[in-house]
Amino acid sequence: MSQPLLEVKQLTKYFPGIKALDGVHLTIRSGEVHALIGENGAGKSTLVKILTGVYFPTQGEVLYEGNPISFRNAIDAQKAGIAAIHQEASMFPELSVTENIYMGHHLTHPGTGRIDWRKMRTETQKLLDELELDIDSNTLVKNLGVAQRHMVEIAKALSLHAKVVIMDEPTSALSLREVEDLYKIVRRLKADGKAIIFISHKFDEIFEICDCYTVLRDGRYIGEGKVSEASVDSIVRMMVGRSLDQMYPKRNVPTGRSILSVKGLSQLGYFSNISFNLHEGEILGFFGLVGAGRSEVMRTIFGVDRKTTGTISLDGKEIDIHCPSDAMAHGMAFVPEDRQEQGVILAM
Ligand SMILES: Nc1ncnc2c1ncn2[C@@H]1O[C@H](COP(=O)(O)OP(=O)(O)OP(=O)(O)O)[C@@H](O)[C@H]1O
Ligand SMILES: [Mg+2]
Repeated sequence: MSQPLLEVKQLTKYFPGIKALDGVHLTIRSGEVHALIGENGAGKSTLVKILTGVYFPTQGEVLYEGNPISFRNAIDAQKAGIAAIHQEASMFPELSVTENIYMGHHLTHPGTGRIDWRKMRTETQKLLDELELDIDSNTLVKNLGVAQRHMVEIAKALSLHAKVVIMDEPTSALSLREVEDLYKIVRRLKADGKAIIFISHKFDEIFEICDCYTVLRDGRYIGEGKVSEASVDSIVRMMVGRSLDQMYPKRNVPTGRSILSVKGLSQLGYFSNISFNLHEGEILGFFGLVGAGRSEVMRTIFGVDRKTTGTISLDGKEIDIHCPSDAMAHGMAFVPEDRQEQGVILAM
């Protein structure tokens, strides 16, 4: 087995009143996709932020190519070749793709020392083409979709000649097609000998794209191994300390009367004629592919989008919902698909 590229030993990080990491180990090798797994709050993002110079560890050691490192800031980590695509948006929406990619390491004319825009634009376009992305280097980042923004962040990592590329839940807001595109790029980075740390809650992704894994629980190192030798159940047991059927035990609750009744709900161009009843004590699932209109139906019921036709009744009485506060006044709550962009409780 090759020498580790990055080794984390006994890493501990305190925040006021919280031990976010407690004696964590992580060993990363070139040409490997390493899954970092753990429940919400397990400490994954905190570990990433230490590796990228955003936070300073309380205790412990990080070895990079065999040497202890201590980054003073994110630029230090970038220069060393560790780049991250963070869970929270970390790009400048009002700036172009080129400006975002070269932020913090712009190119200058060797003679005059002035910023060399032309060179940065051509280099950016080269990177985008190399990744087979249909993005123009002059586009403002605010005009890109989530998937394209991720790709631009990956292009940025390449422009920095990163050896370690960290992806913190990169697929959470992507469609199936976009996830496939991302996989292609991850495989490519791997073939180029980069080490990739891939954070995900989704088992299908871990089994599809990752070679090995490390599990954290409550800020502690639980274990590591090869994905090919693991099963969903063995990883879940490490994550939560119990097996899957104990994690979400099915409870038998008698269902009562109908509470919410939706009839013939339509929104022109998005969905049409949706009807259902939701009863007391019931969990109602909505199934469909990306783009089928599930989120749009819920957004309309909650008053984020306006309906074209149809009725919504609560306890048998038709109600008018024009905006989310109307829905909230009627006792409804909404947990959106993309908590970073659309939510108000980001730490959830
Ligand atoms: N800046 C901070 N100040 C105080 N506490 C923090 C800070 N950042 C994280 N924490 C706490 O540290 C713990 C680990 O958080 P972290 O964000 O690393 O978890 P995570 O594994 O990335 O979770 P998720 O899956 O939700 O992204 C949590 O209890 C969190 O509330
Ligand atoms: Mg996180």
